[in-house]
Amino acid sequence: MGDQVELLINDERLRQVPEILPVLPIRDTVIYPYIIQPLCIGREKSRRALEAAMSRDRYLLLVAQRDTTNDDPMPEDLYTVGTVVECLQMLRLPDDTVRVTVEGLARMQVRKFIQLDPHLEADGVVLIDEEPEGKEIHALMRSALGLFEHCLHLGNRIPIESLEHVRQVDEPGRLADLITSYVNPTLEEKQAILACFNPAERLEKLIALLHTEAEMLEIERRIHSKVKKGLESSQKEFYLRERMKAIQEELGERDERAAEFEELRQKIESAGMPEAIHTRALKDLDRLERMPLASPEVTVMRTYLDWLLSMPWSVRSEDLLNLDAAEDVLNVDHYGLPKVKERILEYLAVRRLNPKMRGPILCFVGPPGVGKTSIGRSIARALGREFVRISLGGIRDEGEIRGHRRTYVGALPGRIVQGMKTAGKRNPVFMMDEIDKIGQDFRGDPSAALLEVLDPEQNNAFSDHYLEVPLDLSEVMFITTANLLDPIPSALRDRMEVIEFPGYTEDEKMHIARLFLVPKQLKEHGLAAKNLTIAHETLLEIIRRYTREAGVRNLEREIATICRKVARQVAAGNRKSFTVKPQHLHAFLGVERFRYGLAEERDEVGMATGLGWTPTGGDILAVEVSLMPGKGQLQLTGQLGDVMQESAKTAVSYARARAAALGIPAERFAETDIHIHVPAGQIPKDGPSAGITLATALISAITKRPVRRTVAMTGEITLRGHVLPVGGIKEKMLGAHRAGVTTIILPEENRKDLEELPIHVREALIFHFVDRMPKVLEVALLPANSES
Ligand SMILES: Nc1ncnc2c1ncn2[C@@H]1O[C@H](COP(=O)(O)OP(=O)(O)O)[C@@H](O)[C@H]1O
Ligand SMILES: [Mg+2]
Repeated sequence: MGDQVELLINDERLRQVPEILPVLPIRDTVIYPYIIQPLCIGREKSRRALEAAMSRDRYLLLVAQRDTTNDDPMPEDLYTVGTVVECLQMLRLPDDTVRVTVEGLARMQVRKFIQLDPHLEADGVVLIDEEPEGKEIHALMRSALGLFEHCLHLGNRIPIESLEHVRQVDEPGRLADLITSYVNPTLEEKQAILACFNPAERLEKLIALLHTEAEMLEIERRIHSKVKKGLESSQKEFYLRERMKAIQEELGERDERAAEFEELRQKIESAGMPEAIHTRALKDLDRLERMPLASPEVTVMRTYLDWLLSMPWSVRSEDLLNLDAAEDVLNVDHYGLPKVKERILEYLAVRRLNPKMRGPILCFVGPPGVGKTSIGRSIARALGREFVRISLGGIRDEGEIRGHRRTYVGALPGRIVQGMKTAGKRNPVFMMDEIDKIGQDFRGDPSAALLEVLDPEQNNAFSDHYLEVPLDLSEVMFITTANLLDPIPSALRDRMEVIEFPGYTEDEKMHIARLFLVPKQLKEHGLAAKNLTIAHETLLEIIRRYTREAGVRNLEREIATICRKVARQVAAGNRKSFTVKPQHLHAFLGVERFRYGLAEERDEVGMATGLGWTPTGGDILAVEVSLMPGKGQLQLTGQLGDVMQESAKTAVSYARARAAALGIPAERFAETDIHIHVPAGQIPKDGPSAGITLATALISAITKRPVRRTVAMTGEITLRGHVLPVGGIKEKMLGAHRAGVTTIILPEENRKDLEELPIHVREALIFHFVDRMPKVLEVALLPANSES
């Protein structure tokens, strides 16, 4: 009912209403007492009526016209019951219309129209509502109110505030008027309410009216909900999709995008994802489809879906379970390495009996160039699986392993997921190189993530921060490699089966070179066997004088250098075939890099050969002692670690304490400065195992007895001259053998370690086992003045 406002009217004003009033015919509406409402007046005659009212006491009689189209209604065209109003405010608008706000005061019955021009004027009588009687009226009021409320809830045409307004009215007649004006029925109905002077009757009429209204609203609602239901659920989605399509077509984006989404959908359907991940992927695709093309989210989501799809959810390689064939593959690729090959064949055998068995997690430990990585590749070949390799060296950030959350700009999955993508199969051989070189810092501990990967209990649901969904790694065969076992966190070490690669003997290197490295390098340089022959002695010379390593990496590099130079000659058409003899090596490889054979040319005083052990394998280690007149000071050089320095001091103390027995004058130490140097100063050295070597060199220097040049030794010394066992025997013996040493002094307790040595190495060396220092000296030192 628009901007009607209802006011209280006091009887005082009603009593002042005159009997003769200007009449204003109104169309389409009826104004009830207590209602304030603005009206627009355009007709000339109406304006004159208004002006008349304003010039008198502002009272005006409003009467509805029966035919709303009639522009100049005569008395017979008007209803005879109207409303007397007071004009509150008048506003002339530029287009000659007048806006007037009127306040309804009371019903008025027209007795007679007494003037037609220049405006209508009538004689009327004010009608006051009769006093309602009986209880019936309350029932009617309640009923009307209830129905009104019902209508209000059925539709939204009636403003909800009206309820509060209506409830405050307690006069029955006024209530009927107010409700009618809110419900806004037809003009006839409104007029009928106006013309009804008995409040009870008026309420009855209103109730009938409200019933009809409620029914209409009910019907309206049913239709509405039917339409709505049709649109809900699938249809609604369809409708939205269609609309989206239409919009995209309008923008010219439809075709490519639609095709792209369709392709993605197909891929998701056929990826064989686990149910939950499948659902999630479809949901993400849905979100992607609804994103505006320009949104930066699009690429992020697209990349994510691509990653999700690149995981080998259900693709696996068939295992080749033929043991003989697998053994052949392993032998064709690598010489020796019996322990590794045996372990792989065992695994295959068990797997044949129990296909559900989980793969072992192998850890290959050994110096560089011994074939750890390349045998991994060969294992994959033997099993018929994919091979992937990642390097863990220098990784300090857990995110490198496990990925970064997608909320970071440019986030990517971690190395594991990347590796699985490369593999493209659920069950690759997955090599993690340099597991001893992972670090840890404030960005989290990468080994914690590795633990999860390598734990058979957990790795069927590995969680990458980027991928977010769990990835099953339980069919993967993990192999890790390390130079040293010690730096690997023990929790990780416990999960792996360690296989040691001690390094190769000269003999093994010869075989590897002849059977594998030379043919491989020839092929890589496009040479035929007839182009290049590297003689047996030549290879030996390369091994002895151009390399000193546990593995064969440098050996392979030197062979490659020769091949490269030959290839250049062949390509230039100079010559077709080369045979490389030892005397040619200088021309091909430059000056020899290592001295082979005896550590020293002569038996020397104050110089002993020890055996060291480094991540790159065992090697010989010279110890030099020189004496000069002084005050008994000790100087140590050659980058010796704390333990090695202490070892040197212990050796000195031992020698001083035993001076008499060794035939040294007691005052010698007080007037002599001792300088101990361990050459190859740029390499840090540490550990207690040079103890007996230091003592031997020192005693040799003081007693002037030379040290046998063919002897090398290792062992820890105590103050009392006991010789304690040391580690790394196998590597050290290989190193000694490589360097051309023939006699070895070892602590008694290390005797058992020789079992692991290759037989021909053991046979090539002479061992002396000792438990006390005098025995060391007995073997190592020559009599005084016997320098050769
Ligand atoms: N037993 C072997 N038989 C044949 N080739 C070998 C053998 N051991 C090492 N190689 C070769 O030596 C090179 C270095 O091996 P690599 O696997 O890189 O060593 P690592 O990973 O232990 O450092 C490779 O070309 C490899 O094929
Ligand atoms: Mg390697």
